[in-house]
Amino acid sequence: MNYKSYIILLGSVLLLAFIIAPGALADNSCLDCHEKLSAFSEKEKELNEVRVKHLARDVACSLECHATTIDRIAKSNYEQWTHSKHALFNVTCNNCHGGNPDSSVKEVAHKGVFRSSEFNSTVFYRNVPETCGNCHKRELTEFMESKHYQRLKALKQAPTCDTCHSPHEFKVLNVSEFQGLCSQCHNEDMRVAPSDAPDKAVTALKNAEKLKSEIKLAQDAIKQAKQQEKDVSTAQKSLDTAISIRDNLPVLWHGFNLPHFEEVIDSGIKAAQQAQLDTGTSITRPKTPGFEIITALTGLTAMYILTRRRR
Ligand code: HEC
Ligand code: HEC
Ligand code: HEC
Ligand code: HEC
Ligand code: HEC
Repeated sequence: MNYKSYIILLGSVLLLAFIIAPGALADNSCLDCHEKLSAFSEKEKELNEVRVKHLARDVACSLECHATTIDRIAKSNYEQWTHSKHALFNVTCNNCHGGNPDSSVKEVAHKGVFRSSEFNSTVFYRNVPETCGNCHKRELTEFMESKHYQRLKALKQAPTCDTCHSPHEFKVLNVSEFQGLCSQCHNEDMRVAPSDAPDKAVTALKNAEKLKSEIKLAQDAIKQAKQQEKDVSTAQKSLDTAISIRDNLPVLWHGFNLPHFEEVIDSGIKAAQQAQLDTGTSITRPKTPGFEIITALTGLTAMYILTRRRR
């Protein structure tokens, strides 16, 4: 087959996936029904009454205004979810709420679905980590080591997964978005949590950016050295260490052990810088004598920090 047939084949597979995917989603009764839902929460019912009163007085305009608001709230869970990565990966309502997605009869579909305020609900705030952890195992493992988790289980005020990953978009907040969120508990007045944690967290995540740029420098240096037909195997090893540290950071973060987090980032930065030195092409940083020993030591330190159990 030449490349044109490959492109045609790939195109057909993609087309097929597009045709099949919505069909597969449509089989889920939670989605089918909730997509069309009208008002049901207290606030929605309240608005509905306003609507009915307006209707009684024949105020047509307000009817429309409120109808839009009501529909928006009623569908909001569904709509936010459609914009999430979960929707893209076919993680549906029943994956977190339970129930029977094969039945289109509400009472049957809702068997095992509880309100988030009920302690036996999979989405009760204290049960949320385990619910998410069914799929996000590594984040849960780290989170269980954190003071946040210990506080959560001890019935004290602490964030759970969806505190920081706004339902139902379940997106990753960026630094500027989450700083205010942390400060809701981490502040001088509340005294439930150290007030300097948000600032420290921001510093740590900035350091993670430094690691990323050092890795980029190392990759460039290795590329250059390869062009000059130099042996890059030692440099590649250091770079691999740095990359695996970088890739593990979003998971490691959930331990909320900032000194440890910083330590790991620093070891990654050192490994990336060592990779640059190893190529021998770096002009900004002179080659240190005995750098093989340093490489080995950096690697060992990194492995030690990574594998060591904390606390
Ligand atoms: C036939 C329509 C229908 C189907 C199917 C359906 N729901 Fe619902 N759902 C509703 C309605 C209506 C409400 C509003 C509250 C009520 O009437 O019980 C609701 C409320 C909810 C709530 C809010 C909690 C509560 O009890 O009020 C959750 C969570 C929920 N549904 C999840 C699901 C999941 C998960 C599925 C699939 C396993 C599902 N629903 C299937 C119609 C449906
Ligand atoms: C990744 C997990 C996850 C998925 C997927 C998910 N939810 Fe939720 N949902 C939660 C969590 C956690 C809460 C509790 C937090 C809150 O109240 O906002 C919640 C709360 C709710 C509530 C508020 C009612 C209550 O019990 O307090 C409704 C209604 C709801 N979800 C409906 C849906 C529907 C409909 C879908 C599918 C379109 C869906 N959810 C998909 C995790 C999820
Ligand atoms: C049934 C499995 C499943 C469950 C349960 C689940 N997730 Fe996910 N989650 C996924 C998949 C699959 C992805 C997309 C692939 C990836 O990023 O790993 C994802 C992605 C994410 C992302 C990254 C989104 C992005 O924009 O990059 C976040 C954050 C997330 N989930 C949080 C949660 C939270 C919080 C819960 C619990 C309330 C939860 N998930 C429950 C499977 C699940
Ligand atoms: C106090 C806030 C907070 C809590 C609690 C929290 N997260 Fe996160 N989560 C974040 C932040 C911030 C990031 C991005 C970290 C980064 O970029 O290094 C993130 C990243 C993620 C990602 C994306 C990882 C990736 O590889 O990009 C997933 C998935 C996730 N969290 C799931 C969870 C789950 C599951 C829980 C509960 C067990 C949880 N989070 C609890 C703040 C939180
Ligand atoms: C709902 C309240 C709440 C929110 C929101 C919250 N925290 Fe916490 N945090 C706590 C509590 C409570 C503790 C435990 C304090 C203790 O036991 O000393 C804690 C502990 C910590 C610790 C450990 C401090 C130490 O001395 O070991 C770090 C780090 C931390 N939080 C970071 C964050 C970050 C970063 C965010 C935002 C992304 C955040 N927290 C959001 C309540 C919260």
